Amino acid sequence: MKVAIIGTGYVGLTTGVTLAFLGHEVTCLDVDAAKIAQLNQGISPIYEPHLDELMKAARSRLKFSTSASDALSQAEVIFIAVGTPSLADGNPNLTYLKSAAEAVGEHIQNPYVVIVNKSTVPIGSGNWVESLVRDAFRSKNSGSKSQFVVASNPEFLREGSALQDMLYADRVVVGSDDEKAISTMRKLYQPLIEQTFTPPSFLPRPENFKMVNFLSSDLQSAELIKYAANAFLALKVSFINEISELSEKVGADISHVAKGIGLDTRIGNKFLQAGLGWGGSCFAKDTAALISTGKEYGLPMVITQAAKDVNTRQRIRMVEILANELKILKGRKIGILGLAFKPFTDDLRDAPAFDVAQKLIDRGAKVIGFDPIAMNRAKKEWAQSEIQFAETAEAVFEEADAVLLITEWPEFLDINFSKSKEKMKNPLILDGRNHLDPVAIKKAGLKMITLGRSS
Ligand SMILES: NC(=O)c1ccc[n+]([C@@H]2O[C@H](COP(=O)([O-])OP(=O)(O)OC[C@H]3O[C@@H](n4cnc5c(N)ncnc54)[C@H](O)[C@@H]3O)[C@@H](O)[C@H]2O)c1
Repeated sequence: MKVAIIGTGYVGLTTGVTLAFLGHEVTCLDVDAAKIAQLNQGISPIYEPHLDELMKAARSRLKFSTSASDALSQAEVIFIAVGTPSLADGNPNLTYLKSAAEAVGEHIQNPYVVIVNKSTVPIGSGNWVESLVRDAFRSKNSGSKSQFVVASNPEFLREGSALQDMLYADRVVVGSDDEKAISTMRKLYQPLIEQTFTPPSFLPRPENFKMVNFLSSDLQSAELIKYAANAFLALKVSFINEISELSEKVGADISHVAKGIGLDTRIGNKFLQAGLGWGGSCFAKDTAALISTGKEYGLPMVITQAAKDVNTRQRIRMVEILANELKILKGRKIGILGLAFKPFTDDLRDAPAFDVAQKLIDRGAKVIGFDPIAMNRAKKEWAQSEIQFAETAEAVFEEADAVLLITEWPEFLDINFSKSKEKMKNPLILDGRNHLDPVAIKKAGLKMITLGRSS
């Protein structure tokens, strides 16, 4: 099928590359000319494992363009995957969605087009997008007819394993009130649903993986599924973090507690890793949007609000624990291991590292950070802050009064802690992800504080 993707960010690019790999003719459209130029040279503007390789494998069916007319005029299915960042009041900023919808209305020519909202958008946005497309189409094509339908196809990928999550998804959800739109989307995803494609050697099919669940629903339900899924995951993380704080107080060990509850198949062990809490582009904004939608309907979303509050508290707690240990933060040098909001991505949106570093700087400390992948992005995006950057993980230990581990990159396990300790002013590590081996750290002569354990 002929597919257009509007927005070549983490979602749009991975969706476009995956659909081209599955055999569709895909044109990816972006307003960012630098991004498109880079993509046309075969270079991905974002770090996502195996994206470069899959782009190469799908290259013959994949185009990148800044021209809305080129991308949209012949498309049978158009995905909108533009950003929907939070506004100050918690509502998502829908400016990008609006201009994408208007571009669709101005340029579609195919007799039947399915316009798919892949961006996470407030409930009811499908109807809004439809009216924007209709108005733009009418003002450009008075008299002529194009039949189009808006569907919702929320995205559940995890940055860092986005391609794995797309090719071997738990489910594909499509919401529309139009039967033909649902069947068009089913046809589009058929190779994925039935797993008829030959897996790329670098992304093998998991053993016993047979089919992807395809769930069709009305538009509003699909839109709500995305918000509810993210709020539930955020809640799971905040729940274990609340229990983790209690663990410290009563002398329990959160790793045993999490294992003990996660073995219950009704609960499951995922998203039960105690630590500094969630960050990233989605959880904060999607929980805020859910709360804001509840407010619009006079319904306080108390559980979602509590999940948010606990998450905010975790970042403050990290600084408080450090202040407790060092007594004075002014003039202290604090090293930070990990800047990206999680490992295997270079995404810095709502990264806990930035928040914690800023809180320390506000209290007079000097902060020096390192990340294996997100360094260049951090130097650019955080240029206004006083955060300094080290060239290696080991260099953050230099003269440090403490080192905080904030992102659980596997390579941090390979640091020579005995040697690094020698460079420190004060041999203290605060492991914000319960990532390091306490025995190895103790052996290296460092004091380690972890979250959710009493010692
Ligand atoms: N990042 C994730 O892990 C993730 C997961 C699931 C859902 N989502 C949702 O998907 C949406 C996109 O997220 P993202 O992380 O990919 O965003 P992003 O900021 O990485 O990418 C958005 C892209 O859209 C482009 N753009 C903006 N307006 C445009 C327009 N009018 N025409 C063409 N291009 C335009 C931007 O230049 C940018 O390249 C958001 O609603 C987000 O909530 C994100």
